[in-house]
Amino acid sequence: MTRQPPEPRLPTRPAGLPHPKYVTPRGVSPLVAVREAGLQYPNYTPFTLPNLTETPFVDRGLQGDPALPHLREAATAVIHLTPAIGTEIVGLQLTALTAAQKDELARLVAERGVVFFRDQAMDVHEQIAFAAYYGDLHIHQMAGIIPDLPWVHPIHKDETAVHGRSHQIWHSDVSYELQPPGLTLLKMDTLPHAGPDGALAGGDTIWASGYALYEGLSPKLRAFLETLEARHSGLEQAEKARRTNGCLRRDPIETVHPVVRTHPVTGWKTLYVNENFTKEIVGLEKRVGDGLLDTLFRTVAEGYEFQVRWKWTPNAVAIWDNRATFHTGIFDYFPHLRHGLRVAPQAERPHLDPDSVTRKESIAAAQQGQHGKQGEAAAP
Ligand SMILES: [Fe+2]
Repeated sequence: MTRQPPEPRLPTRPAGLPHPKYVTPRGVSPLVAVREAGLQYPNYTPFTLPNLTETPFVDRGLQGDPALPHLREAATAVIHLTPAIGTEIVGLQLTALTAAQKDELARLVAERGVVFFRDQAMDVHEQIAFAAYYGDLHIHQMAGIIPDLPWVHPIHKDETAVHGRSHQIWHSDVSYELQPPGLTLLKMDTLPHAGPDGALAGGDTIWASGYALYEGLSPKLRAFLETLEARHSGLEQAEKARRTNGCLRRDPIETVHPVVRTHPVTGWKTLYVNENFTKEIVGLEKRVGDGLLDTLFRTVAEGYEFQVRWKWTPNAVAIWDNRATFHTGIFDYFPHLRHGLRVAPQAERPHLDPDSVTRKESIAAAQQGQHGKQGEAAAP
């Protein structure tokens, strides 16, 4: 007799969700199931949530062995896609990972910025349970949801995307929150057939490394940036919701975060301002602050050596760290359909540890330490 795998454990559903009778069936994309139930998808039926307050967070990556022994043992290949950012792991199913492997994965994501997997047999319930291992799942203030699974953010564009831009803005997800997401998981299940003769092509995503970008700036500029804080705003997004679909679930907020933050797992400094949500540098003349932000945003967009571009395949998964990366989806596939599901555990409130260093400095110090030890061992 074959044993059924245990039901994935989901977080407690918030009260007052819309369409309380609807249940997403196991093993079926909500893109199909919600519509078959006669409901709008993604669903914008209004409901309210309590405003977010600061909650404790401990990063699972702190428990992960940096040598990744358990992950490497199970994978058939670990492929680093560029020197600065992006690693693909081959031969693993995320649903089969042990706690030790999940902790090592968090460590790897923290270091490499984004980690990719192809051909994942993981339904939306399993995806939620997997992501919930890493922290409290974020519910978006205004984006469409799956009615019974509000922690999932559907990434969805089709022929109705008439206001779609030729590009999206580089960003770090919902950075206006008190505790913006860290590790974030997107599984893409439907890809555009936007290539010649209907071939599968289009809708790649690009990520950029905040660590690499930051360590590439001059020491004087880095020292100045470390003294600064910036205002991140969810107000524009909230206003758009009010104008278009009337669905806003919490009081919209603005939050001041340090311009440079320290990642709690790697201890590396990373740039934390993004074009979508960062509105101003606090305490600088508006013109000066905007000029500085614009320069940094252009470095994110144009620093190809800090970037990795991922070509999705059906059921590929990307797990990235929103604390240390920026990303943008390429909208080159109108009017074709592209659909995926994102789940985002909230991380710590951003902070800068004044004793932290850049990635390069950290790696150089570790190598020097090793050489020192080798030298000692070799001494008579
Ligand atoms: Fe995003």
